[in-house]
Amino acid sequence: MAASVALLFFLACLSVTCAVHHGLNYTDALEKSILFFEGQRSGKLPPNQRLNWRNDSGLSDGAAYHVDLVGGYYDAGDNVKFGLPMAFTTTMLAWSVIEFGDLMQNQLENAKAAVRWSTAYLLKAATSAPETLFVQVADPNADHRCWERPEDMDTPRSVYKVTSQNPGSDVAAETAAALAAAAIVFREDEPAYSDKLLQAARTVFDFADRHRGSYSDSLNSVVCPFYCSYSGYHDELLWGASWLHLASENTSYMAYIKSNGHTLGAEEDDFWFSWDDKKVGTKILLSKGFLQNRLDQLQQYKIHADNYICSLIPGMPGFQTQYTPGGLLYRSGQSNLQYVTSTAFLLLTYAKYLDSNGGSALCGGGTTTITAGDLISLAEKQVDYILGKNPANMSYMVGFGDKYPQQVHHRGSSLPSLSSHPERFSCNDGFRYLYSSSPNPNILVGAVVGGPDNRDVFSDSRNNYQQTEPATYINAPLVGALAFFAATKP
Ligand SMILES: *[C@@H]1O[C@H](CO)[C@@H](O)[C@H](O)[C@H]1NC(C)=O
Ligand SMILES: *[C@@H]1O[C@H](CO)[C@@H](O)[C@H](O)[C@H]1NC(C)=O
Ligand SMILES: *[C@@H]1O[C@H](CO)[C@@H](O)[C@H](O)[C@H]1NC(C)=O
Ligand SMILES: *[C@@H]1O[C@H](CO)[C@@H](O)[C@H](O)[C@H]1NC(C)=O
Repeated sequence: MAASVALLFFLACLSVTCAVHHGLNYTDALEKSILFFEGQRSGKLPPNQRLNWRNDSGLSDGAAYHVDLVGGYYDAGDNVKFGLPMAFTTTMLAWSVIEFGDLMQNQLENAKAAVRWSTAYLLKAATSAPETLFVQVADPNADHRCWERPEDMDTPRSVYKVTSQNPGSDVAAETAAALAAAAIVFREDEPAYSDKLLQAARTVFDFADRHRGSYSDSLNSVVCPFYCSYSGYHDELLWGASWLHLASENTSYMAYIKSNGHTLGAEEDDFWFSWDDKKVGTKILLSKGFLQNRLDQLQQYKIHADNYICSLIPGMPGFQTQYTPGGLLYRSGQSNLQYVTSTAFLLLTYAKYLDSNGGSALCGGGTTTITAGDLISLAEKQVDYILGKNPANMSYMVGFGDKYPQQVHHRGSSLPSLSSHPERFSCNDGFRYLYSSSPNPNILVGAVVGGPDNRDVFSDSRNNYQQTEPATYINAPLVGALAFFAATKP
C-alpha cells in the first residue's frame, strides 16, 4: 500500500503542473466537500453539527406508517429523501474512503461520519427486509409546490416501498452496494457494525435478485422524472454483486458475476457513470480484481474499462466525449458537474489500479497506450476547472475561493435560518426568497452546483436549478478525488 501510494505521488508529479505553484488549496476543498453533507442532513442533528444554520427536521418520518425512517440525506435543494440517489451517494462516499481514505488525514473521521449518517438510515429502511425495502420519504410533487425550510416543512411525508409484488431491483441492489461498500469502510475499526452492514447488504441483494423489476414501474408518479431508473436494473444487480464480492469472503458472488455478467451488461460499453447508470463504474471496480489479484475471469472488465478511458481522451481511437471550449467534460445542461466528478473519481481510481501492477490502458486494439499519469492529469484539469481554473474564473464549490455561486437553488440555504427568523415560513411564504436577487443568507459550504453550460457560461440565478442546484451525488465522488490531490499536490 505505502509503495503504491509513493509511486502515485511520483506519477502525479510527472504532469507539468506539479512544479508550478497551483494556487488551489485542495486540503481546504476536501474539508469543505465533506462539510457540505451536514447541510443535507435530515433527522436529529448532533451537538457537533458544524453547519449551524440547520436544525432538526423530519423527526416523525415514517411514524404514520409504523416505521422509523428518521435521518438520512435530502438529495439536493429540496426536502425529499430519495432512496436511489442516497444509496449511490453512500456507495461513492464509501468508495472514496476505501481508495483514498489513507490520504485524508484529519478528514478521515468526517468522511466516515458522512457515510454513517446515510448507513444509519439505510439500515432502518431495510429493517423489514427480506420482503420489503423502504425507498423514499415524501411526495416530490407536493414538496416542489412549496419553498420551505426542512425545519418547518408541512408537506406530506408519504413513505414508499418496494416489495416482492412491486419490486425495485435498481434501488434495492444499489442499497446493497452502499451497505457492502460501507462494510469495508468500517471493517477494521468497528467489526460488529461492519458485520451488521454486510448482513443487511446480503439480504437486500438477495431480495433485489429474486424479485426482479424496476421501481419506476410501481412508483412511477413519485420517482419519475426525478430519479426514474432510465437505465433499468441490470446495471445495479451487477454493481451490487461486485460490491458484495469485494466486501464478503463468500465465493458465491464471484460465481454470480461469472454466470450472470453477460446478461447484466458486462459486454456493454457505456461512457457516463451516475446515480442511474453503474455500468462503467462496475467495469473499473472489477478491473481491480484482474489487475491486483490476477483473477483472469475478470479480464473482460479491464478491456471495457480501457474502452471507457479511450473514449475520454482526445485523439485516441474510440474518443467520443464532448468538452467545452474551456476544457470541461460536458454531457448535460442539467447538473453536468455530477458527470465530471464521477469521471474524475474513476480516472484516479483506475490510475491507482493500473499503477499497482505496472499496467496501462490500451486503445485502438493495443496500438496506443495510456498511462496512469495521463489519467491523473485529465482528472486534475477537471477538478481544477470546478475549483476556479475556468474561463469565468468562478469556483463552482460554494464557499471556496473568492468567487462562487451566491444564489444556490437550495431551500434551507436560501431562507433565513431558525435562529435569525424563529417564526415558521409556510408553504408559499418562501417563494419570495426563491425569486429574490439577494445572495443566500446561509452558506452551504462545500456544495458543488450543477455548473456551466456547453460554452462555459454560468448564470448565478436561484431559479436556474439546472446550474445552481447542488446534489449529494455531485460531491460524493469528489471527496475521493480531492483527497488524492490534497495528498499528492499540497
Ligand atoms: C489550506 O487550507 C487548510 C485548511 O483550511 C489550511 O489549514 C491551510 O493553511 C491552507 N493552506 C494554505 C497554503 O493556505
Ligand atoms: C436548534 O434549535 C434549538 C431550539 O430552537 C436551539 O437551542 C439550537 O441551538 C438549535 N440548533 C442549531 C444547530 O441551530
Ligand atoms: C455465501 O452466500 C450464499 C448466498 O448468499 C449463502 O447461501 C451461503 O451460505 C454463504 N456462505 C458462507 C460460507 O457464508
Ligand atoms: C479571469 O482571470 C484571468 C487571469 O487573471 C483574466 O485575464 C480574465 O480576464 C478573467 N476572466 C474573467 C471572465 O473575469
